[in-house]
Amino acid sequence: SFASVVDVLSGEIAVGSEITVRGWVRTRRDSKAGISFINIHDGSCFDAVQAVVPSEVDNYQSEVVKLTTGCSVAVTGTVAESAGQGQAFELQATKVHVYGWVEDPDTYPMSPKRHSMEYLREHAHLRTRTNVTGAVMRVRNCLSQALHRFFHEQGYLWVSTPIITASDAEGAGEMFRVSTLDMMNIPKKDNGQIDYAQDFFGKEAFLTVSGQLNVESYACSLSKVYTFGPTFRAENSNTSRHLSEFWMVEPEVAFADLNDIAGLAESMLKYAFKAVLTERADDMAFFQQRIDSGVIDRLQQVIEQDFVHMDYTDAVEILQNCGKKFEYPVAWGTDLQSEHERYLAEVHVGAPIILKNYPKDIKAFYMRQNDDGKTVAAMDVLAPGIGEIIGGSAREERLDVLDARLDEMQLPKEQYSWYRDLRRYGTVPHAGFGLGFERLVTYVTGMQNIRDVIPFPRAPKSADF
Ligand code: 4AD
Ligand code: MG
Repeated sequence: SFASVVDVLSGEIAVGSEITVRGWVRTRRDSKAGISFINIHDGSCFDAVQAVVPSEVDNYQSEVVKLTTGCSVAVTGTVAESAGQGQAFELQATKVHVYGWVEDPDTYPMSPKRHSMEYLREHAHLRTRTNVTGAVMRVRNCLSQALHRFFHEQGYLWVSTPIITASDAEGAGEMFRVSTLDMMNIPKKDNGQIDYAQDFFGKEAFLTVSGQLNVESYACSLSKVYTFGPTFRAENSNTSRHLSEFWMVEPEVAFADLNDIAGLAESMLKYAFKAVLTERADDMAFFQQRIDSGVIDRLQQVIEQDFVHMDYTDAVEILQNCGKKFEYPVAWGTDLQSEHERYLAEVHVGAPIILKNYPKDIKAFYMRQNDDGKTVAAMDVLAPGIGEIIGGSAREERLDVLDARLDEMQLPKEQYSWYRDLRRYGTVPHAGFGLGFERLVTYVTGMQNIRDVIPFPRAPKSADF
């Protein structure tokens, strides 16, 4: 029967059982005594399993000793306790089938040496063959499953919100336009150029920047909901923390206020960190050893401590008086730059921090105004090494206040008419947030660049594959 590498290495399969493992060759080594040791990985866990292949195997001379890194194989044999150090179990092979050879092993892009992350990005279709990208993708999967489990256990409904939309959820004008290019009937302007202005079957449409507005409408009837899907930002940011296409987890809760969702964010993150430390201990040990020596302790500490809450106004004072020279000056009313966010999280608290009650002028139109008339009930969760990983708020549920804000910001009321309906028919206080999923994966793994934690990164000038 067939088995995964993890089944063999975990001891799930009884010693003496005959099984077949299928995967890719990581390394091959031949002993003088006419035995080959082949390490095979299949993505099911960090480690590869060692197959011990004796020269009695039929195709030993013709094939086995020619195997190179990246070849795909099926190895049949008996599970045995391993004499060597490292692994408890190995496979005593009786048969080796080669599915596919590696053409010209000398130029195989994933040769078994250490490659730079930039190089791996240029080979995004093959980089999951490496230890590092394999580990990232298993951790990414674990986090995503854990988040779904968390919300499910808390009684939330998962809502699939649309990717094609007419509304600008952030009101920041950073949307990609969607075209229906009917090649037989391309809309043309008078000057003969393609008319992209009205092109979703005759209407303007965009890729969503956030599922929030749609998920709000579900919260205002189903009470506790969340969306988890891809979102798009047409901002020309070439940094290690920005993507043009990223995934967001957005819970939205009726009858909740700012502190309720701050608490939700804290328990959600702790739940996800616990899951990854127990379920992906193998990959986390690798990140600790090779990428970031503090990564496991850091997560452990976050799980054990209460999050620090701080008002924006107090944060500005701390930043102004901390004696550190920042590239951008800090003044009440200006948005915090990543250097400020990182100072607060890394130096001032040394852990994730929840900043609350920002000036209304630097935040989106939908955030609920506080009684002081100057600030809104917003929160950001800032993490050491990364800065903002979560942004959220209480939502403005009062129609008159919302309308005044839309006018003030010169946003078109027609575009938000359905959103305003929610305030006209049985409005309720509600609040929610968005977790940048790739920022979370970056934080958890200790990876340096957000482009290395999503399968095929999309960023300005990078949409290959
Ligand atoms: O702060 P943002 O823009 O908030 C919203 O979109 C709200 N509508 C969410 C809500 O309340 N439901 O984005 C939320 C998070 C940020 O904190 C950040 O982690 C991530 O999304 N994010 C990005 N991640 C990668 N690349 C980008 N360009 C990102 N922009 C935002
Ligand atoms: Mg934000």
